[in-house]
Amino acid sequence: MKILVVCLGNICRSPLAEGILLHLVKEKNLSLIIDSAGTSDYHIGQAPDARTVENAKKHKIDLSPLRARQFIEKDFDTFDKIYVMDKSNLQNVLKLARNDSDKQKVDLFLNISHPNQNMEVPDPYYGGEKGFENVFQLVWNASEELIKSLH
Ligand code: 4NP
Repeated sequence: MKILVVCLGNICRSPLAEGILLHLVKEKNLSLIIDSAGTSDYHIGQAPDARTVENAKKHKIDLSPLRARQFIEKDFDTFDKIYVMDKSNLQNVLKLARNDSDKQKVDLFLNISHPNQNMEVPDPYYGGEKGFENVFQLVWNASEELIKSLH
């Protein structure tokens, strides 16, 4: 099973989800492939946002090795599931889908923990520390649910 998590910049929400999922995969000895990407080209090659790295570190999650990359059409071939953080990411990813099979791979990340509610992980980029902790809690809970559902 190969899972891709996607946000806008690939420096806040999706690298956090990648780091948390990798942590849980390791802890539970699972053989899942996890990656993350951004729909924009704004931060390609960059490390995650320092505020996200700092917040994750408080929860013992290390994001420092991760680097941003942009979502590409080929990701529909590589991954079994593509989880997006908000409705704008959803539109951007679906625009690149070539067929129904591609489209069916895509869902909002929080539909894992809050089925059918189409809730968004809010973009923390322009907010304060509370926003980053709120994002952490939302992403952590959905990540745990995802891992539970897969083994
Ligand atoms: P992310 O957050 O999509 O969670 O990585 C953002 C990062 C950068 C920008 C927006 C959102 N930006 O506009 O540069």
